[in-house]
Amino acid sequence: MKIISIANFKGGVGKTTTAINLAADLKNRGKKVLLIDVDPQANLTQSVGLTDEIENSIYTVLRKEAFGEKTALTDALIEASSLDIIPSALDLANAELELASVYGREQILSQLIEPLEAYDFVFIDCPPSMGMLTINTLVASDFVLIPLQAEFLPLKGARNFLKHFQTVKKMNENLEVLGFVLTKYDQRKRINQQIKTELEKEFSKHKVFSTHIRINIALANAQEHGMDIFSYDSNANGALDYTALTTEFLTRING
Ligand SMILES: Nc1ncnc2c1ncn2[C@@H]1O[C@H](COP(=O)(O)OP(=O)(O)OP(=O)(O)O)[C@@H](O)[C@H]1O
Ligand SMILES: [Mg+2]
Repeated sequence: MKIISIANFKGGVGKTTTAINLAADLKNRGKKVLLIDVDPQANLTQSVGLTDEIENSIYTVLRKEAFGEKTALTDALIEASSLDIIPSALDLANAELELASVYGREQILSQLIEPLEAYDFVFIDCPPSMGMLTINTLVASDFVLIPLQAEFLPLKGARNFLKHFQTVKKMNENLEVLGFVLTKYDQRKRINQQIKTELEKEFSKHKVFSTHIRINIALANAQEHGMDIFSYDSNANGALDYTALTTEFLTRING
């Protein structure tokens, strides 16, 4: 089992889109994949078509575990038609404060994940901030994948992220950066190419995926319909790009 968190403190960079589509493609290739939504916005949960009130979410489980009640991630597991998911719910926002005073608060998710060995890959979608939820996610992960837009501000965000990464590494020495993925890429914009070059220079070439995800409205439409891009429109550029990303992901993670 490999656990990959998808994180960046910057909002709207394609974290959730990357989580759903990478997971969907891996599943189509016969892998056993689990999604965990650790963002109170619950976008990933909606992306797999879950819109109804959720009884047990990641919040219920984290809380019980933190306060010593018997629980397991499988209590909240939903086998949605497309993918297995541990959903989020809006009240997960409370966890940031509630967990702050708990002993061992950084390891709560990590302890819960251990028994899930049946999965090949677990993807955890993070909120766009560095709080208890993101720390728990990074402490529980083997790898972090960082989507970012090829623009100036997101690049600053990536530098900032790497600073925090060093702090988290003290709590989880196994954690590795799998790589940066450029999203919403527009070849025609000079700034996009400049940032790509700068990123490759700064973070050494092997940490930047050579696949980039082009701007493609079908990706946004698919998400709105609660579908992955392969079920929504398998001929869209977004489907081609995420297929290439999955192939590169597998090479990197096995290599
Ligand atoms: N390559 C793309 N082309 C066009 N639209 C995209 C692309 N990737 C993502 N989007 C759209 O951009 C918006 C933000 O994407 P997404 O939700 O994946 O970002 P995020 O990093 O998870 O955001 P947040 O930080 O709020 O969780 C969504 O509406 C999504 O459908
Ligand atoms: Mg998101």
